[in-house]
Amino acid sequence: MFNIAVFVSGSGSNLQAMIDKQDTLKSKICCIISNKKDAYALIRAKNHNIPSFVVTKKGKAGEQAIIEILEQFDINLIVLAGYLRILSSELINKYRGRIINIHPSLLPKYGGAGFYGLNVHKAVIENNEKISGATVHFVEEGIDTGKIILQKQLEIEEGETPESLQIKILTNIEHNLLVDSIKLLERETL
Ligand code: GRF
Repeated sequence: MFNIAVFVSGSGSNLQAMIDKQDTLKSKICCIISNKKDAYALIRAKNHNIPSFVVTKKGKAGEQAIIEILEQFDINLIVLAGYLRILSSELINKYRGRIINIHPSLLPKYGGAGFYGLNVHKAVIENNEKISGATVHFVEEGIDTGKIILQKQLEIEEGETPESLQIKILTNIEHNLLVDSIKLLERETL
């Protein structure tokens, strides 16, 4: 089983989906790390008695604080679920193949610098795409570039707005995709 740390910066609806499906996993969500002290995800963690930590510091000091938490909980899988900070190559190296991220587009399309939150869905609509979706991938040094684990798509309907597409992708795809990806890794790794 994996000892999972979930990294968050905001609402944490993906974290909530993982918590709700915790019983279906062999792995355990051991701790939550946020770079924002007012992230709603922290309230979700508290409601479910999951230890949470706020690390706002950047650079070496912040990274060291994160590594201490990961070691304290014997973490062997890091899940980035809406974590809006780039990991250093030291951390990526230390946990290579053990860090996954969820992104709300069909990567490699609409990934990389600047493609986060509503920006992704705005670009998709502006380019008149017919399909979009979400991707779970391993984290490498590049932004949104690592090997894809799972991807799922949906059709974009007439009159779709960035906001409606964001909600649809979150609820219809993302909230299952992370847990499905972890299950896949459990089957392949354990
Ligand atoms: C999701 O769309 C995820 O794909 C992206 O950030 C968003 C986080 O949403 N990386 P939430 O905080 O899980 O609600």
